[in-house]
Amino acid sequence: MKSRTAILNGDVYVFVFAPPQILQLRGFMSVVALHKAFVRTKYLEGKPERYVEMRKRETVFTAVQEMVEYVYLTDSNLSQGLEILNRNLVYDQTTIDQFRHNTIGDPDYDPSLALMAVENGKPCGLIVAVSRQGDDGPTGGIKFIAVDREFRNRGIGSELLARVERRLAELGVRSVNVGFTRPNYLMPGVDPRYTVACAFLLRRGYIRRGEAFNMDVDLAASDWSTRELEAKLAEQGIAVERLRRDEIERFRRWMTEDGWSAGWQYQVMRAATMEPIAVFVGKRVEDNSFVAFACYDGVRPGWFGPMGTTQSMRGTGIGSVTFLKCLQDMKAKGYRVCEINSVGPLYFYSKVANAVVSRIFWQFEKELASVSSDQSN
Ligand SMILES: CC(C)(COP(=O)(O)OP(=O)(O)OC[C@H]1O[C@@H](n2cnc3c(N)ncnc32)[C@H](O)[C@@H]1OP(=O)(O)O)[C@@H](O)C(=O)NCCC(=O)NCCS
Repeated sequence: MKSRTAILNGDVYVFVFAPPQILQLRGFMSVVALHKAFVRTKYLEGKPERYVEMRKRETVFTAVQEMVEYVYLTDSNLSQGLEILNRNLVYDQTTIDQFRHNTIGDPDYDPSLALMAVENGKPCGLIVAVSRQGDDGPTGGIKFIAVDREFRNRGIGSELLARVERRLAELGVRSVNVGFTRPNYLMPGVDPRYTVACAFLLRRGYIRRGEAFNMDVDLAASDWSTRELEAKLAEQGIAVERLRRDEIERFRRWMTEDGWSAGWQYQVMRAATMEPIAVFVGKRVEDNSFVAFACYDGVRPGWFGPMGTTQSMRGTGIGSVTFLKCLQDMKAKGYRVCEINSVGPLYFYSKVANAVVSRIFWQFEKELASVSSDQSN
């Protein structure tokens, strides 16, 4: 079947040329019927040919999408996916390692939720979502969506979103959020400076439910010395040091016993894979037992967190030391800014390191209609 796309007065028209017998095909007719397209006759080189003129924008989307291929994002096209992300998510450009971590490296990675739009061999759109098993059933989230500028406003973004929502619904997900796909995510929501994307989501039934913010510490502003604070801690029998490789497993067990979530453990364990290990721990000198931790690079390069102190030791100054040790380390590693992820205790970071609020993320959510199996193909 031949097709032509034309833009007239800002509206996109798709003309599909087809001989009459093809118009009888069930799938095609259903498009015609669904979108009230007009079947006309045109004379091409003297021979009558039927063609369908589709005027409704939604119909145009459907027709255009038939020319776009939607393929899974896998190891083989990962770098093309990263390029789409970096061309479009200008506040969240990232590295191939981080991109791999957030996509095929996610323990819940499902290729049917990671799609790339390809038009005539050119990758032009991307959506990555995930479904996780929660205590109350599966939960779902979209990590990012992007369509290259010259391919926008043609329905590709809508189709990527619709496909992923449909798949999530098939997997039993009832509510889908955007961005904050804990514990593995690139950003804890959508930066409102991606205004078109926010408008796009709101128009597609997403509701703004919450907000997260990051804070920045200017690492050049100080040497982040902990000498005095560490001397006070030493009087209480506490030392703060970098987690050692041979302690990682014992430390992970302690995190479980002390009640730190599996999500935080996942992030801290990733920080522990860095070289040098990007985790600092507070320990009782007498028995080497853990009492506190802080880490960076566990969620995303240059991002700090999570950190925590066991209940009985809060207020002793230990959190300040684990945090400041991370700042020293980040500075030594060459970072200029420490970005504290998805804060928490604003007063603490402001007081200890003059951190300032630097980024805001809107958290969107949408309830999905449940899908019965006969609707799911
Ligand atoms: C959001 C995005 C994926 C949409 O992709 P797309 O292929 O253009 O999507 P569609 O063609 O299906 O729909 C276009 C929609 O963009 C929105 N839009 C387009 N121009 C807009 C404008 N000037 N102002 C506000 N919204 C606008 C509208 O919602 C429009 O759909 P609607 O009018 O039918 O509701 C795309 O704009 C994009 O890649 N943005 C940059 C990446 C980004 O910000 N991602 C979010 C971080 S997760």
